[in-house]
Amino acid sequence: MNMRNSFVHCTLSLCTLTLSLCTLLLISCTKQSELDKAIAYADAKVHLTISQMESITDSMPRNVLDESQSKWNLRANVPQEWCGGFWDGCLWYDYALTGKSEVLRAATMTGNQMLYLATAPVFDHDLGFLVITSLLNGYRLSPDADTRATYKEALLACADSLCTLFNLSVGTILSWPRHIKDYGGHNTIMDNMINLELLLWAAEETADDNKADFYRHVAVSHADTTMTYHFREDGTCYHVAVYDPVTGKHLYNCTHQGYADFSVWARGQAWAIYGYTMVYRYTHEPRFLTFAQKVTDAYLRLVNSQMVNDQMVNDIVPYWDFCDPRIPNAPKDASAACVVLSALLELQHYVPAAKAEEYKTAADAMFCDLTEHYESDAQCPAILLHSTGHHPAGSEIDAAIIYADYYFMEALYKLQLY
Ligand code: GLY
Repeated sequence: MNMRNSFVHCTLSLCTLTLSLCTLLLISCTKQSELDKAIAYADAKVHLTISQMESITDSMPRNVLDESQSKWNLRANVPQEWCGGFWDGCLWYDYALTGKSEVLRAATMTGNQMLYLATAPVFDHDLGFLVITSLLNGYRLSPDADTRATYKEALLACADSLCTLFNLSVGTILSWPRHIKDYGGHNTIMDNMINLELLLWAAEETADDNKADFYRHVAVSHADTTMTYHFREDGTCYHVAVYDPVTGKHLYNCTHQGYADFSVWARGQAWAIYGYTMVYRYTHEPRFLTFAQKVTDAYLRLVNSQMVNDQMVNDIVPYWDFCDPRIPNAPKDASAACVVLSALLELQHYVPAAKAEEYKTAADAMFCDLTEHYESDAQCPAILLHSTGHHPAGSEIDAAIIYADYYFMEALYKLQLY
């Protein structure tokens, strides 16, 4: 290379380097600005809901069935309503993201409304959902030591209650005591994986070593048994597993909220991804990390082939069930995408670089899709539209549902944190 060529080469290299840095900066600025925009948008929706909920103490936001509605449809705050904690969780994340005092006030007031669960008889496995989303987030995010102490005591009592549903012969927590006869045995649903966080957290926080061992045993046994009996070879899951309550023998698998026993209900798969990622966070057991990747890869394969088949290049939100024969005319489920997004934002930090890049790219695409195509109109208090609750029961189809907002806000929090 002569002097001139060398100069040109160096200048070009410098230009390329400068350009790459500029591009990188531009991309990261755009990302931060997109995140800031999404946080401001979510915060505005949270404030709409705070206004609606100001004088209401016995109910929680549940869904918005029509985008033109300016108020949430509410459900009573009782142990039978599994979504009672999500609104409080949205408030805690919004407080963590914005630091606003009126949000902290609302979060604490709403959290206090969940304390009754510490002394209520356990209704079903959803006790975990109810208090992880509300009291556990409050325990982590409240700046007030008394609130944190009160919530911790309540959470430990709830962990004891949840353990009463554990069947030693089966090795899992019973999901629905009220459905034992209907299913002919001890039933465990995939959603139940989420509740293990209450026990794994309690194992770290209790001062009682025997209890800590038991909480950990219940959670790990549930995760292992579910791994053995609740999945197909390809990493997709069934919704329900039924076991003999006396011998513990696995009897059969079926669906409750999916299209069919053989199908892949999108939110069920999302619970599996989130569940095994979270169990790995607490246990550091490599088998749970390997499995989290297996169930994630199964989901990404399905959602990618859905996009290719339907030429929906910009829509990475799944149909409510990947096997519904009405696809592409079947409803979507934004809530499943939010659960997976939140899980991927964490899982990408546990896996080797190439896999991390793949999960990061998928998470970016989910975030962009949700913010560009699933946000609601100005008057609507919900953050995201187009979730599906219980399709076989004809309930909450193509609706805004509070848990989609909760997992979306959790994703915003993780994006800000990492
Ligand atoms: N846990 C109930 C649901 O995912 O709809």
